[in-house]
Amino acid sequence: MNELKHIAIIMDGNGRWAKKQGLIRSFGHKAGANNVENILKCCLEFNVKNLSLFAFSTENWQRPKNEVDFIFSLFDDYLSKYKEKFKNEGVCFKVFGDITKLNQKLQNNILEFSEYTKNENKINFNLAINYGAKDELVRTFKKIQEKNLQINEENITKNLDISTDVDLLIRTGDCTRISNFMLWQCAYAQIHFTKTLFPDFSSLELEQIINDFLNTKRTFGGV
Ligand code: IPE
Ligand code: IPE
Ligand code: MG
Repeated sequence: MNELKHIAIIMDGNGRWAKKQGLIRSFGHKAGANNVENILKCCLEFNVKNLSLFAFSTENWQRPKNEVDFIFSLFDDYLSKYKEKFKNEGVCFKVFGDITKLNQKLQNNILEFSEYTKNENKINFNLAINYGAKDELVRTFKKIQEKNLQINEENITKNLDISTDVDLLIRTGDCTRISNFMLWQCAYAQIHFTKTLFPDFSSLELEQIINDFLNTKRTFGGV
């Protein structure tokens, strides 16, 4: 059986979920944010040690300002809602991406939250905000240059926002693309695309995907 150390999810389809029921896109983002808890719980049950979720990309700034503002208000709500809960449940929380572009209050809250949960060790829960894989690689190479290190796979991996390879990448929302998410870490990931829109993505479906993954032979270029 495969080891499953890291699941990454491109949480797509919130807007279409809302539209389908005649609601504005924001309702979809709220429903999506509420669904994260189910996904996290399922990963804890399967003893998956790392979960990385794509919440806001470096490209998502192109969206209408009211949508962007609403998504960021959800991040504020999320941080205050889950701080104690995560601590009690052994969740080590981290935001990855370029957070220097976020407003100062949100940056402070993020850093405080990470500090508060940094010794928790049931699961590393990484939330991508203002994240793009190309941007991450540029920031990584800059760090390597500043530290005067050699460019090699080990140093690149160590200096990324997230150093753990992704075993299983899932994209909800019926689009078969990666949209600039964790390109280095997904080099050998199994990829699963589902038509389910993220707010409807259930722990039952995730369980099935995990079980398929566990029973798939991974050869890593061997035989
Ligand atoms: C994903 O859902 C959430 C973000 C990108 C913030 P979308 O908002 O992209 O939903 P669709 O793809 O338009 O349905
Ligand atoms: C990817 O979804 C980004 C997130 C899920 C945060 P998008 O909806 O922004 O990506 P595209 O436009 O389908 O590539
Ligand atoms: Mg989308």
